[in-house]
Amino acid sequence: MCGIVGYVGSRHAMPVLLEGLGRLEYRGYDSAGIALQRKGKFDLFKKAGRLDVLRGTLPKRNAATCGIGHTRWATHGEPSDLNAHPHVESSGAITIVHNGIVENAGALRDFLRERGHTFASETDTEVLAALIAEEFLLDTDLTASIRRAVSRVAGTYGIVVMHKDVPGLMVAARNGSPVVVGIGENEMFVASDIAAIAPFTRQIIYLEDGEIATLSAKHHEIQDFQATITNRPTSTIDVDTTLASKGDHEHFTLKEIIEQPDAIRRTLSGRLDERFKTAHFGGLNLDAKDLMAFKRIKILGCGSAYISGSIGASMIERLARIPTDAESAAEFRYRNPIIDPQTLYLAVSQSGETYDTLTAVQEIQRKGGTVLGIVNVVGSSIARQCGAGMYLHAGPEIAVVSTKTFACTLCAFALLALYIGRMRDVSPAEGAEVIRALNELPQQIQNLVERSDEFKQIAEKYAQYQRAYFIGRCEGFGLAREGALKLKEVSYIHAEAYPASELKHGPLALIDEQTPTFAIVPDDDLLAKNLSTLAEIKTRKGPVVAMGQSEVLATQVDDYIQVPGSHPLTDPILLLIPLQFIAYYTALARGCDVDQPRNLAKSVTVE
Ligand code: F6R
Repeated sequence: MCGIVGYVGSRHAMPVLLEGLGRLEYRGYDSAGIALQRKGKFDLFKKAGRLDVLRGTLPKRNAATCGIGHTRWATHGEPSDLNAHPHVESSGAITIVHNGIVENAGALRDFLRERGHTFASETDTEVLAALIAEEFLLDTDLTASIRRAVSRVAGTYGIVVMHKDVPGLMVAARNGSPVVVGIGENEMFVASDIAAIAPFTRQIIYLEDGEIATLSAKHHEIQDFQATITNRPTSTIDVDTTLASKGDHEHFTLKEIIEQPDAIRRTLSGRLDERFKTAHFGGLNLDAKDLMAFKRIKILGCGSAYISGSIGASMIERLARIPTDAESAAEFRYRNPIIDPQTLYLAVSQSGETYDTLTAVQEIQRKGGTVLGIVNVVGSSIARQCGAGMYLHAGPEIAVVSTKTFACTLCAFALLALYIGRMRDVSPAEGAEVIRALNELPQQIQNLVERSDEFKQIAEKYAQYQRAYFIGRCEGFGLAREGALKLKEVSYIHAEAYPASELKHGPLALIDEQTPTFAIVPDDDLLAKNLSTLAEIKTRKGPVVAMGQSEVLATQVDDYIQVPGSHPLTDPILLLIPLQFIAYYTALARGCDVDQPRNLAKSVTVE
């Protein structure tokens, strides 16, 4: 959730840290800070608020060549200058940035108070700093001090630490929160996310859980918590850093909605097999025999990733006729799930770092299950933990709410449905139809993108309502959930999704002229049922916006968004686009910060 960055080398550290933090700000953004190591002391700057607030307090120049920085998403302690990171332990010896949660912070704080430490903030992080300082008194090896300190810590952490008496040295450790080391020419970087260091070096090493990296300008050493050296060759990252900039767009959210045709082209690229009318994947590590042995599929993810899984489950069942369902990864991991060897598990995550999804994967693997990742960020924790699966190749998604990665995930499910379906009962002719629809998809989305003014007008018409319903059936209900989630996240309107079939079983009581309903109404065999539901709403004077393919809708609802129909597997992706624009323009009309909504963070690496 928080972003971490560190630098040691011969450049001035401050601009490097600020550049890195700017690229991480989407992860968490309620406060930011940097600590620069200079002449046996730390220059510390930290401020509640966005990174720009911190920028406004910094000196023009600082000669330090070693420093750490942090952008925060508050867990322990409100967003304030004092609670912002980096934290400096009370004697001033140690400074630290931390991502994660120390679960036994209370007990450790009591113990450390007895040892004479005082605490200026409400954070669990300050406790870590004091604990490391305490260990440093025993010997002056910072790495060994951290190793001993973390052995007493329960919880998750990605940390970077500096000691004032050990100039030019940063030590990072990882347990449950991502840490990546960047190796430059006589300089080292460390961060929670490659985005922060990609402008400076492409040579990286991901720390695994239970590892510590000791970094000086010319050397790096990685060891595990037992002090065994685990150095390994670097990997080269392939990140187009320009993709992570807004370009001419007003917001990342808008840019990411608009670039969906290209993102989807990348998801499809090289995966359509025109000869056998199927899909192929490079990284599943399962052959046809393995796949045919599975009797069920279960999809896990959180938030929008979970919702995409519920739509994906309908797609797979629809085409491949294999029982498939989706569950929240967070619910799954806590309920001691039965892991069935004949079930194929799929873990969906844009960031590849969502802690609940990662631990669900570990739970499945621990019990002998097979799990594949459907992940956007290459080399992320979930991708590495799964070891096999499919990358989305959607490109960096910076806006906090997921848009293009949601669409690309639905594409990935369509490909998977085709692949498994063609191993089972789907005929080559049916396979060819899916391939046609997938090939047409980017242009059809482009056509919808070009109608953004139409969606803007509808958004502005309904922007001042305080609540809204989203309804649909089957995949349409999944889209309703996604539409409602997007709207509430960015505009703070209370939006609730319901299966259209359930409305009359209770929620209809809330329908009145102040409660608009956004209805997903594809032209399928449930059209008549959906039209009856809409009539029930209209009878109660509820305003209705419907999106679908049937012209009948135009006469029955207040606003009709005509969305072209193509194939049941790709229609949900087309119907998604107006929902995204409506959320975006509603947020704008209400003056909300659409890229960085309140209380949220891009990558949820805590429980
Ligand atoms: C919603 C949103 C979140 C994420 C969820 C999972 O717009 O972005 O609900 O979908 O936090 O994140 P990932 O996909 O990174 O695992």
